Amino acid sequence: MVPRLGVNVDHVATIRQARRGSEPDPVAAVVLAELGGADLITIHLREDRRHIQDRDLRVLRETARTPLNLEAAITGEILDRIREHRPDQVTFVPEKREELTTEGGLDIVRHSQAVKAAIDFCHTLGVSVSLFIDPDERQVEESARLGADAVELHTGRYADAPTRQARMHELTALKRASTETVARGMHLHCGHGLNYANVTDVAAIPHMEELNIGHSIISRAVLVGMKEAVAEMKSLIVAAHAARHLP
Ligand code: PXP
Repeated sequence: MVPRLGVNVDHVATIRQARRGSEPDPVAAVVLAELGGADLITIHLREDRRHIQDRDLRVLRETARTPLNLEAAITGEILDRIREHRPDQVTFVPEKREELTTEGGLDIVRHSQAVKAAIDFCHTLGVSVSLFIDPDERQVEESARLGADAVELHTGRYADAPTRQARMHELTALKRASTETVARGMHLHCGHGLNYANVTDVAAIPHMEELNIGHSIISRAVLVGMKEAVAEMKSLIVAAHAARHLP
């Protein structure tokens, strides 16, 4: 099975929020991502709403043609949003206000009661649950015990590994946790820090079902679209100048 590509459009919203305006609209980005082959759309509704807004969740719930995966922390307010919008899948992540991005996996062992309650809550709504965890066999084991449908193994340490040897070490940890995930009957997802240079080894892990990728795709989109965006603006300016000389 080819792993599904979940395109995370948070950073389209990050650019929009820089001006608190209406563009670029992540909803438009989703249409284009789907045309490009996205198999699902991932958004992270953070408690501080620094990028994705409630409006984005509401509109995408209606307009996305592919399944919607909502990344979220386990809080009462977020669980209310899940009840209201019922995404196809929720990926529970840890969240600290001061972090730049999700820095580590959710500690399922430490927070087992809250995680269990959140999983049961989603299941009563018919929402499938994935848990974003470090590639650690104890976390995988506990995720299965609590009834998660899937785990998303955090690939941040793999992506940030400073040497090839360190990266191979992290890949081995991912493979081990992947084997454990599949053996315990859960779906296998991976994400965080994956890019055009490091995705291949992770996509090749047996039984990989879903990869969630954001920053590298949005970064590349800015660059590959730059020439066309500047050319369009330039032609408007040239046309306006030409029109000045018309009677
Ligand atoms: N998966 C999860 C659970 C995440 O929190 C994030 C970041 O929001 C991603 C995947 C995407 O990570 P990146 O933007 O580094 O590709």
